[in-house]
Amino acid sequence: MFVCVLTIVCLFSATVFAVGAEPVDFQRDVAPIFQQRCLSCHNDRDQRGGLSLQSAEMARNGGESGTVIEPGDEASSYLLESLVPSDGNAEMPKGASPLDANEIDIIRRWIAEGAVWPNELVLDPPVLWSLQPIVRPAVPWDITETEGFPIRNQIDAFVAHRHREAGLQAAPPADRRTLIRRLYLDITGLPPSPATVEAFVADTEPSAYERLVDELLSSPHYGERWGRYWLDLARYADSEGYLGDALRPHAWVYREWVIDAINRDQPFDQFTLEQLAGDLLEHPTLEQKVATGFHRNTLRNTEAGVDLELYRTKEIIDRVNTTGMVWLGLTLGCAECHDHKNDPISQTEFYRLYAFFNNADEVGVAVTRPWETAEYEQGMRVWRPVWDELVAKLQRFEKHDLSDAQSETISESLAGSSEPFDWKTIVEFYRTKEPGWEEVRAEIDAHLKQKPAAPRTRARAFAERTKDRRETFVHIRGIYTRQGDKVDPGTPVILPPLTTRSGGADRLDLARWLFCEDNPLTARVAVNRIWQHLFGQGLVATPNDFGNQGARPTHPQLLDWLATEYRRSGWSRKAMIRLIVTSSAYRLSSAANAVLSQEHVGNQLLWRQNSYRVSAEIVRDLHLTASGLLDRTIGRRGVRPPLPAFVTEVGRSVQWPVSQGGEQYRRGLYIFFKRTVPYPMLMTFDAPDSTISCSRRERTNTPLQALTLMNDPVFHECAQSLGRAVHQQHPNDLSAAICDIFLRCLARLPTEQERKVLDMAYQDVLRIRETEGQPADQGEAPEVAALITVARIVMNLDEFITRD
Ligand code: HEC
Ligand code: HEC
Repeated sequence: MFVCVLTIVCLFSATVFAVGAEPVDFQRDVAPIFQQRCLSCHNDRDQRGGLSLQSAEMARNGGESGTVIEPGDEASSYLLESLVPSDGNAEMPKGASPLDANEIDIIRRWIAEGAVWPNELVLDPPVLWSLQPIVRPAVPWDITETEGFPIRNQIDAFVAHRHREAGLQAAPPADRRTLIRRLYLDITGLPPSPATVEAFVADTEPSAYERLVDELLSSPHYGERWGRYWLDLARYADSEGYLGDALRPHAWVYREWVIDAINRDQPFDQFTLEQLAGDLLEHPTLEQKVATGFHRNTLRNTEAGVDLELYRTKEIIDRVNTTGMVWLGLTLGCAECHDHKNDPISQTEFYRLYAFFNNADEVGVAVTRPWETAEYEQGMRVWRPVWDELVAKLQRFEKHDLSDAQSETISESLAGSSEPFDWKTIVEFYRTKEPGWEEVRAEIDAHLKQKPAAPRTRARAFAERTKDRRETFVHIRGIYTRQGDKVDPGTPVILPPLTTRSGGADRLDLARWLFCEDNPLTARVAVNRIWQHLFGQGLVATPNDFGNQGARPTHPQLLDWLATEYRRSGWSRKAMIRLIVTSSAYRLSSAANAVLSQEHVGNQLLWRQNSYRVSAEIVRDLHLTASGLLDRTIGRRGVRPPLPAFVTEVGRSVQWPVSQGGEQYRRGLYIFFKRTVPYPMLMTFDAPDSTISCSRRERTNTPLQALTLMNDPVFHECAQSLGRAVHQQHPNDLSAAICDIFLRCLARLPTEQERKVLDMAYQDVLRIRETEGQPADQGEAPEVAALITVARIVMNLDEFITRD
């Protein structure tokens, strides 16, 4: 009965539309539907269910279940059946809203009228959003301002527009203390000092915030913070990887280059050019050669017995994949062994990109830094006088004659010998028998070991082979010994054509091509990363996959506007950051309940800021800064802070000569990174393992993190230092001491309740000390010990390691 009614309704509606309607025209009526709703999954390249709707011939062939279009017989055409919704859902288009009644009717009539499709009419599959040309969108200025969300710049107009569409209310702005801490952490990765916070809170000038932004962007710590993001992409490490994992003692030279280039705001196109092809620039400078260290960071296996050519190809494959992810946001790596299954990249195209890197060899470049020479000279200034003194001491033992007693002994023992003998040697020998000689000799040997080594730093750089150039072949199924067609360097056809300077295409052409006017990916990908670092999530959630499997942009217009703006600003990273952080959107409160009615609404549309745990290195930097231990030296070689005992016990092979003096309190990004034995604290807080390029770190929340904060010797030392410092500053004022700890750690004062709790903790420690005495390992006065406990509690608060 039910079926019967349905049929009648269908027939009825069909009749209604058919009356007086002109015949369906495939090109005008049907093609647009196929193109917009079906072709993304049913094209010649990607035939879901075995079906392509690109041409009449392919459509007639049908899919896995056979013919799907029966011309003139709509009732037995599976294609039509798949479109008719029941319960509001239709089989096709898969996973999307059903076609509307009118569209379904067009298809029905088209089939009923004979499914006419001229053979020459081949439809183009839709172009993926990210491959469409970037056109600067108009800014929706017509948006009305709401209270608390002034439209400060273009970003706000785009964001507010989406709020209005979705009926969302923007959160109120963050308070000034939260805001300054957020800005400090985002731009420099270091917390503001209490004095800076108070000055900002008191500064009511409208320009106070902008001034702060400019100040932070010109801080050398900015290059460290944003350099670290780049090092994640560059899979930076201080060792080779694989089992052997030999050290790369001079890898830091590249890290230093990155920090410096970012600090001087080197335009992103030039920044790229130097890293991909610095050696191919005309008269490259030493620094431009150092920049090519980007692709030197790849893993390397040169152990005895391995197939060296195999590992060389692996390095090049990694270079192609990394270049694809970092600049194009494409998972090129999927086309290493077969054509890409999701994106329009063929295996041949993969090897054309491979050919760009196949002729780059590595060379060492001498790059001793002035600070190294200065350090050496300083060391020698201390070493030399001691040496001179020791040599002088030794000279006192110099002998030209023997004493009478010694001469006598010798004469006796050479008893009747007529052989001539070497008096000089004998004199030399007897000298060593003088009292005191041995000691001076030992001192000299020991001092010689202390002699500072002259710096001989060598960076690894690319150098293009000029002779014996390697030919590139497709590796059938990814197996390098199975050569397919020979290929020349080239770029994928879905992207704009490559312009070459002369002769064959090289890396420099490739680097320039990334930034050509009509490359649709580079700018979108780059600007999305900057956004991600300032909001904790990108406008595209998958920063290294802008392909079919990647996420779609939450704000496509905004993304494109920013992409054009980045180019317009001459690829100035600082200008882009400035633009974003001065928007109202950036300055919103991050509290999930900032608008009570939206407490459970996700934040894709950015009605508030995001709140999240800071990255591994910053966890460390926060501790070191709050405690006053931080060594603010920029760049230079890596350091080895003390490791928890269990690590060195487990791995006897761990060579970890702990850095001495202030050096061990340098920022997290300078911690020596050995791929097989990474510093445990960094890994616990989700630092990447640097085997492949990383564009978005995990943000896990585990008990191990809490245990690390409690027990890592470095953090314990920080609490001690902080406790002692505030005790010294406020010897007789507990309340002031507690407030100071709060300000240094959280940039705010404690609430009354918090103060009480900490007060109690303080008194508890004093009482325990009184009843149980002082623990053997702590020489602190009870008041200091109690303040150290307070500092530890505050440093173990979630808020301490959260960027709100
Ligand atoms: C998001 C991807 C997607 C879109 C868009 C899509 N399809 Fe499909 N289609 C599939 C998949 C996957 C199958 C295979 C069967 C399954 O998984 O349901 C399929 C199967 C089919 C089949 C059956 C083929 C066979 O022989 O088994 C037909 C007919 C079909 N689709 C028609 C359409 C039409 C018409 C449209 C557009 C209105 C459309 N599809 C849009 C993914 C899609
Ligand atoms: C190291 C080589 C290699 C890499 C890299 C690789 N694949 Fe494959 N893949 C294969 C082989 C071999 C097969 C099976 C035979 C074939 O289809 O060529 C296969 C099959 C597939 C299939 C099923 C084939 C089909 O037609 O049903 C899919 C889907 C696939 N790969 C996707 C991917 C994606 C996505 C990536 C990148 C993340 C990837 N592959 C990277 C080697 C590789």
